[in-house]
Amino acid sequence: MKNNKSVKEYAKLQYSSHENLTNRMNLWSYGSNPETLPKWIFSHFKLQGKEKLLELGCGTGQLWLENYKKIPSTCSIVLSDFSQKMLNKAKENLEPLNLPINFKVIDAQKIPYGNQNFDVVIGCHMLYHIPNIDKALVEISRVLKPSGRFISTTVSKNHIKELKNFLSKFGLYSDEKLKLFSEFRNETGNDVLKPFFEEILFNEYLNYVKITSVTPIINYIDSMSLKERYPNYQEIKPQLENAFKKILEKKSKFEITGISGMFIAKKPIRT
Ligand SMILES: C[S@@+](CC[C@H](N)C(=O)[O-])C[C@H]1O[C@@H](n2cnc3c(N)ncnc32)[C@H](O)[C@@H]1O
Repeated sequence: MKNNKSVKEYAKLQYSSHENLTNRMNLWSYGSNPETLPKWIFSHFKLQGKEKLLELGCGTGQLWLENYKKIPSTCSIVLSDFSQKMLNKAKENLEPLNLPINFKVIDAQKIPYGNQNFDVVIGCHMLYHIPNIDKALVEISRVLKPSGRFISTTVSKNHIKELKNFLSKFGLYSDEKLKLFSEFRNETGNDVLKPFFEEILFNEYLNYVKITSVTPIINYIDSMSLKERYPNYQEIKPQLENAFKKILEKKSKFEITGISGMFIAKKPIRT
């Protein structure tokens, strides 16, 4: 993979604090889907109560925070992230709830557990941040028990397309030039997972957001590390704000389409 270095550097920059992710998640609270993404994801786990689970790239732990009443006390869960700051936030959110959760700093490319340890490994909206996805998938497969499940989520190439179009008018977004992500999207995830897993199932999740004020959208745009990536971002930002205000004056709302997806993949009994 040619862009290994930029993928690694971007992930490090993005998650040196939890604020970027927190601001992005806030946008979806304006969404039309009555079921939030973390609730939708959790509803697919169908936990029996005895499972050992490992989550990679847990971020702020929102998945467990929104579903904490449904977590069987008899499960054993490890939440991990390569960023100590993200993990601290997850701990702050979840430790008071007295759940069967341990926390650990882990880079998904090198998982510090023995073979065939977990029933379920989870990686939500995080595989595209990994410089060498195959290396992580070898590790994930190794720590899964035979027939264990790897549950991963990601986004479609058309995710937030209205926002990407808006930013590209200001020279602030180009899919071709970005090269800050490894390829793992709704459209390509199956091909990435296929060499390692079988019985791969896919489900799509849609959420339409109608934004009626400038702040949540500017916070979201700020969270994309544009300040660090575009030297002229601070000069362009007032133009963005004005353009956005004009859209709101004219149409009273700015609509954004969120398209996520989930892959549920099984580790073959014999590998
Ligand atoms: C978009 S956030 C998703 C957080 C959470 N899973 C969620 O869906 O809300 C991506 C997370 O993956 C973590 N991450 C990025 N690269 C990683 C790696 N190589 N190993 C483990 N975690 C990683 C980041 O620190 C960040 O918390």
